[in-house]
Parts: sequence; structure tokens; C-alpha cells
Amino acid sequence: MAKKGRFITFEGGEGVGKSTQIRLLAEKLAEAGIKAIVTREPGGSPQAEALRRVILSGAASPFGPAGEAILFAAARIDHIDETIAPALAAGDWVLCDRFADSTRAYQGAAGKLDKSLIDSLERVAVGETRPDLTLVLDMPIEKSLERAAARRQGSAEPDRFEREGRAFHETLRQAFLDIAAAEPQRCAVIDADRPSEQVGQEVWAQVRDRFIKPRRRAEAKD
Ligand code: TYD
Repeated sequence: MAKKGRFITFEGGEGVGKSTQIRLLAEKLAEAGIKAIVTREPGGSPQAEALRRVILSGAASPFGPAGEAILFAAARIDHIDETIAPALAAGDWVLCDRFADSTRAYQGAAGKLDKSLIDSLERVAVGETRPDLTLVLDMPIEKSLERAAARRQGSAEPDRFEREGRAFHETLRQAFLDIAAAEPQRCAVIDADRPSEQVGQEVWAQVRDRFIKPRRRAEAKD
């Protein structure tokens, strides 16, 4: 199926505000007359949501980063087949909370999983369904972990990855910055340590400049 809609992913550590920013972007796109679906990983389809519950409970952690990476990939295949690819083929945009870069950062950089395994899994799971744009939300880990804890208040225990220590989260932050630096065409780093409206304006500027009025600049030069 040919891809017609745009595929935008949001990445970053715990508590950086991805879900708020996805909601704000979906609203902006709706105002611009663009239909976008909002989805997430792990999850985003019934079978992938079932795997999400297993992974985030910590039940799969005895298998180690390789076993977990394989489960994330299995969930991703189903999510793409059932949700992402059909939406893109219908011309809708897809806004996704985490995608393959999270496997690179969490299981690869922080979990120290061999890069060749990560690359192979990505080839198999993602294939041609690569993001057109990845927004990496970045902030100091003290703040993001504080926010993740506040978000959880009174409800659940920290999940499998929130329980990891400070060094793990520092490695993650750097891993996302490294991914963005290695693929500047696809990725933009957004300073998320600001009020959410300001962050939202920058997210919108990235999307608008790349996809909504790319002709304007060319016209201005004529
Ligand atoms: P979630 O509650 O969605 O976290 P957040 O709000 O921070 O996005 O839980 C998803 C967790 O799974 C998060 O800790 C990151 C982790 N994860 C991986 O380790 N690898 C992956 O490939 C994906 C998609 C997520």
C-alpha cells in the first residue's frame, strides 16, 4: 500500500511531556483540516496492547534486553500492520508516542544490546514504514523523572523502566540526542524544559515548515 499521510513520532525519556505535545499537535492539525490519528508504543493495536501489559509489568525482564527487544518488535509489527500502515494509506497522518528509536535507546544504548541485533529487528519490524519526522523532546533528567513521578502520584507503581537508576536515564537522554544528531533530516530536538505552550509552538513550527507550507520559501525566492 502506498503511503500518503505523514508519519510523525515523538521520542524522549520518561516524563518529558510527549503525550501533551501529541495532543496539542493533533489539535493544530485538526484546525488546519488535516486528519491525524494518535497512537503509542508499545501498543496501538489490540495484540500490541496485550504485549505492552506483559512488558511493562516487568514479566519479560528475566529474558533480558534481547528478549524484551524481540517483544517490542513483535508488538511493532502488529501495530504497523493493524493501525499505522492502513491510516497512512488512507491519507491520514499518524502521530505516535514512541517508536523504533525507543528500542535503539532503551534496549540498545541503555540495555547495551548489540547494535546489529537492534538493526536487524528494525529492518524486519519497521521495513518501509519509517517516520517522516521524529521529534525528540529533551530535558534534564532530574526534571523529567520528577515529572514522571508526579504524573504517577497516587496511582500505579513505577513501571519496568521508570524503576531503572539515574545512569540508565542519563544514557537514554544522550542516546536520543545521538540518534537526532546522526539523522538530522528526520529528527529535530526540542527543548522540552519550558512551558508546554512554548514547546507546542516549536513542535508546530517544525511540522508546518516541513510539511504544510514548504513551497512558500521557494516562492519567496522567485
Ligand atoms: P509509557 O508508560 O508509554 O512511558 P512514557 O510515558 O515514558 O512514554 O511506557 C513505555 C515504556 O516502554 C517506556 O519506559 C519506554 C519503554 N520502551 C522501550 O524500552 N522500548 C521500546 O521500543 C518502546 C516503544 C518503549
